[in-house]
Amino acid sequence: MSETTQTADEAQQTRDGPATSASVTTTGETDEQIRESWTDYQFDGRAQIVTEDLNVYYGDDHALKNISMEIPEKSVTALIGPSGCGKSTFLRCLNRMNDRISAARIEGSVEVDGREIYQDGVNLVELRKRVGMVFQQPNPFPKSIRDNVSYGPRKHGDIRKGLLDRLLGRDESEKERELVEHALRQAAIWDEVEDRLDDNALGLSGGQQQRLCIARALATDPDVLLMDEPASALDPIATSKIEDLIHDLSEDYTVVIVTHNMQQAARISDQTAVFLTGGELVEYDRTDKIFENPESERVEDYISGKFG
Ligand SMILES: Nc1ncnc2c1ncn2[C@@H]1O[C@H](COP(=O)(O)OP(=O)(O)O)[C@@H](O)[C@H]1O
Ligand SMILES: [Mg+2]
Repeated sequence: MSETTQTADEAQQTRDGPATSASVTTTGETDEQIRESWTDYQFDGRAQIVTEDLNVYYGDDHALKNISMEIPEKSVTALIGPSGCGKSTFLRCLNRMNDRISAARIEGSVEVDGREIYQDGVNLVELRKRVGMVFQQPNPFPKSIRDNVSYGPRKHGDIRKGLLDRLLGRDESEKERELVEHALRQAAIWDEVEDRLDDNALGLSGGQQQRLCIARALATDPDVLLMDEPASALDPIATSKIEDLIHDLSEDYTVVIVTHNMQQAARISDQTAVFLTGGELVEYDRTDKIFENPESERVEDYISGKFG
């Protein structure tokens, strides 16, 4: 922030002496510089995803700025920050979902399991099978519960089923049955639907639909699950089931979750990345450190609810 862009409030603040060591804007944000030591998160174990100087533009709008982040495998990473700070944009970069947005331009690198996903020749169907996504609004197909789960494996040729396969004697109904049960159990919804697998998925409650969508993502045997505010359309009981599920899934999967609910991030994540207005990653660390003793004043203000 330069002198000439100072607002009346800020000028007043300067006269009164700044409330903090850095000068404070009207939104409560300071002009502190992001330091590499705040975003360079050290952890034991292997990184599943590594982004390096990731930038995203929507036309002239620079939505994400130089995001370099290592995401550890088999854990929950929460992305928090005020609306519009680029959380969904970042998440969509991790399985190239932004490719579907024509205005989006991406620069920089994203490696999944040590392989660059932004290079020619990457099979996007295969990528999205390994890096699955769950959205804010549960979006089951208007098909049976069973078909919702088996759809992916069939599409990928992991299950053969249908009239032709039956005629040729290679029908894999039994394999399908096992796979569907396994995925529904993993998503903690089997007990609620085992007697009605042929019912339309749209007849389920919102929370059940969301767990079904998680089962559908799990059925293609991913390594990573991306979740964009997966519980924000659900009631508290359904939300708490999803939170328990996410915790359990992180034993086997790398979960990256966007949430605007800070208590949720604090409850379920191992590490938290705080994005702030302007598409910057300001701080990334163990979740308890972020919530109890953040380095950045802007993060401290955001966590304590002073803005955002
Ligand atoms: N499809 C899009 N086309 C143009 N601009 C977009 C699009 N999606 C997001 N943006 C812009 O990018 C910025 C970040 O948005 P988003 O990633 O949705 O933030 P968040 O998920 O943190 O609320 C915002 O300024 C938003 O308006
Ligand atoms: Mg979003």
